[in-house]
Amino acid sequence: GMHCVTMKGQALLFICLLSLGSVIGQVSYTIPEEMSKGSLVGNIAQDLGLETKRLTSGKARIYTRDSDEYIELNRERGVLLVKERIDREALCRQTTPCALHFQIILENPMEFYSVTVQITDINDNAPTFEEGEIKFKISDESAVTGAKFVLERAEDLDVGINGVQSYELKPTDNFALKLHNNADGNKNVEMVLQKPLDREKHEQISLVLTAVDGGEPQMSGTMLIIITVLDVNDNAPVFTQQTYKATVTENSPKGTVVATVTASDADQGSHGKITYSITNTLGNVRKIFEVNQESGEVTVIGNIDFEKSRHFQINLRAIDDGGLTDSCKLIVDVKDLNDNKPEINIMSKSTVISEDAKLNTVVTMINVEDLDSGENGNVKCFISENIPFLLKTSTNNFYSLVTDSDLDRERATDYNITVTCSDEGVPSLSSSVTLTLQISDVNDNAPVFERSSYEAYIVENNTPGLSIFTVKARDADWNQNARVSYILEDSSVSGVPVSSYVSVSADSGVIDALRSFDYEQIKDFQFRVKAQDGGSPPLSSNVSVKIMIQDQNDNPPQVLYPVQTGGSLVAEMVPRSADVGYLVTKVVAVDVDSGQNAWLSYKLQKATDRALFEVGLQNGEIRTIRQVTDKDAVKQRLTVIVEDNGQPSRSATVIVNVAVADSFPEVLSEFTDFTHDKEYNDNLTFYLVLALAVVSFLFITCLVVIISVKVYRWRQSRVLYHSNLPVIPYYPPRYSDTLGTGTLQHVYNYEVCRTTDSRKSDCKFGIAGSQNVLIMDPSSTGTMQRIQSEKSILDEPDSPLEFHRSETVGHPSSIFSTMDSILLSTFLSSDSLFYYFTPTLF
Ligand SMILES: *[C@@H]1O[C@H](CO)[C@@H](O)[C@H](O)[C@H]1NC(C)=O
Ligand SMILES: *[C@@H]1O[C@H](CO)[C@@H](O)[C@H](O)[C@H]1NC(C)=O
Repeated sequence: GMHCVTMKGQALLFICLLSLGSVIGQVSYTIPEEMSKGSLVGNIAQDLGLETKRLTSGKARIYTRDSDEYIELNRERGVLLVKERIDREALCRQTTPCALHFQIILENPMEFYSVTVQITDINDNAPTFEEGEIKFKISDESAVTGAKFVLERAEDLDVGINGVQSYELKPTDNFALKLHNNADGNKNVEMVLQKPLDREKHEQISLVLTAVDGGEPQMSGTMLIIITVLDVNDNAPVFTQQTYKATVTENSPKGTVVATVTASDADQGSHGKITYSITNTLGNVRKIFEVNQESGEVTVIGNIDFEKSRHFQINLRAIDDGGLTDSCKLIVDVKDLNDNKPEINIMSKSTVISEDAKLNTVVTMINVEDLDSGENGNVKCFISENIPFLLKTSTNNFYSLVTDSDLDRERATDYNITVTCSDEGVPSLSSSVTLTLQISDVNDNAPVFERSSYEAYIVENNTPGLSIFTVKARDADWNQNARVSYILEDSSVSGVPVSSYVSVSADSGVIDALRSFDYEQIKDFQFRVKAQDGGSPPLSSNVSVKIMIQDQNDNPPQVLYPVQTGGSLVAEMVPRSADVGYLVTKVVAVDVDSGQNAWLSYKLQKATDRALFEVGLQNGEIRTIRQVTDKDAVKQRLTVIVEDNGQPSRSATVIVNVAVADSFPEVLSEFTDFTHDKEYNDNLTFYLVLALAVVSFLFITCLVVIISVKVYRWRQSRVLYHSNLPVIPYYPPRYSDTLGTGTLQHVYNYEVCRTTDSRKSDCKFGIAGSQNVLIMDPSSTGTMQRIQSEKSILDEPDSPLEFHRSETVGHPSSIFSTMDSILLSTFLSSDSLFYYFTPTLF
């Protein structure tokens, strides 16, 4: 829309505000020329409705295409002042109106206002004639009343009322002045003969022509006219036309004939010889055109520039030898050629724009001019396609380049915007400028981890401080906005802050282990790492990291059965009647590691008789491999090695004692030497003997004392009364110890009977009744039942000394719960199940 306000101020003020993309307003002032420096032109801030603050912050300035700056802007006061003396005549010559055009440009946001300062004329120039004197020769014959003589015009640099207004001729005896208004606004001055000249009276007449302007004060210029009266009858030359017309194309080469003017003279001889000349005084007509003195051919001798002059008026004079003249004019129209490229002027531009700039943000303002006229001067501008900018046109060849869609520095960091302007001439001329625009960064991208989640492995028993791996996040922004730091998010792993497990390097994202991990305690744990950029405000993202601890073969197998007790004796009984493949016992071992590291195999390392037993490689079952014979020793000692499958593997050995016997005494007789603590027994025997001796001694002593006392008392009582000797009963010591039944119903008992004497004691046993039977029931759930019966063998009440020791071998209840015992039972019975045996069951 257009909004115009007319105001009256120091000068006529005309404001038009056009809203076209960027705000474009127009202000116009009128001032006289020759104002002193610093004079006020107008209050631009007020007239544009801008605050002076805006002028300062927007770095308001004047943009002009002229090299000279006549007007300056005072931002603080918001006024336009005269900067240099303005001479209207120098600025515009005869052109009216004379005006200065410039723009006031503001930034942030970019906008501009057009300002026109019209310069009015003051009467500072007097009319002048090019020559101070002009001579005419007039013959009596032609000097009849009404004869016309064309006079030179006076020129006044001022315009309008200050230009030449009137002429005065003195004296007025013979001639009168006649003024013709010309098409170009000037006046032709003619002198008309009023009264015939009398040669006898005046051979020469002098006249003064005065030109005066209409200014205040009035100014004038004069010219002397000298007329010589001839006495020869003569004819004046006469042009065939008063006005000739011609057209010339601009830039025509020198020598181009524009037109030919012709004058005829009725006289014969030298009086009929005509000479042509150009009489123009002002301007540069005589520098551009030349007339051939004899032929009247007008040719080009200078540069014809349509942009400087669109037409010329050439004043021509024909003069014969007699001095008689005629004059005519040649109007030359200049034809425009498309010889000027559009001129692109960058009025104001940004070199950097933020990527979050709003739509329609003005980036650059452009003014384009083409000096040619018509179609040759009609200019259209456009920019390269597929860029997020638009070239908006407003009035008067002003363009503004604005943002047309969202910018994204991450997509394009800079643009080379080429503005091309072409005119509509044939052929068309065009020119272009390339603007380089940088897009500045805004923190609009969060860091992005290279992966959506991370998994890393670390082998247990690592050294604390070991780097596990590195997380990496990238940020598409620039510089500080892309500087990523890594932060460990607070969380806890089984009640312990994760920060005591791992640390994350803020700069590099390297994750270090802070402690040595034990696979048997923790198999994996998870936490989150945050990546944060250095923008303001910062943006962040997070990622989950799972650390998996890998098992190392750091635990040897543990043998659960047979239990290796320090001094006690455990033996498996094999009846001599046992068949091939008789299951003697089963070595049970576990490994707290996992996988291959817990895959156990059993091997027989040493044996009393290797040919008699074998160990199941996988299940640890000890079986006979041939029929037991009578020759086989009762006492068999097997060393079984249990190895896991780790690299390197770890192992444990277990000693299994086997008794090949049918009866317990047989076993006992053979196995007592297993009681390696013979020395202890000897000592014991010694102490027992010693104790007995002491006791016997004391007993006998007591007995003697008592008898002595009794005898003494008896002797006394014989006097008083009679009595019997006392009876002291004796009970032998008896030791019986039965430990609590183990959770595993696999109880092995053995009995040892000792005498104070020797192993060939007189201690008597009943039937050695310990019977071990294994019942395997594969069809059922596989629960192994070990039925075991026990009969007391210590029934000899007469034995002087009896030891009954019953030892129950089970599993340490600290390791296994009752439930687990069932599982373990399962595992004991089934080889295949063993493979799936993992510590998690525990
Ligand atoms: C813009 O021009 C400059 C210099 O010619 C060049 O280095 C840059 O790569 C150009 N940018 C684009 C986006 O074409
Ligand atoms: C982690 O990122 C998710 C989105 O990926 C977000 O929902 C969550 O709030 C973030 N957690 C933290 C602690 O910043």
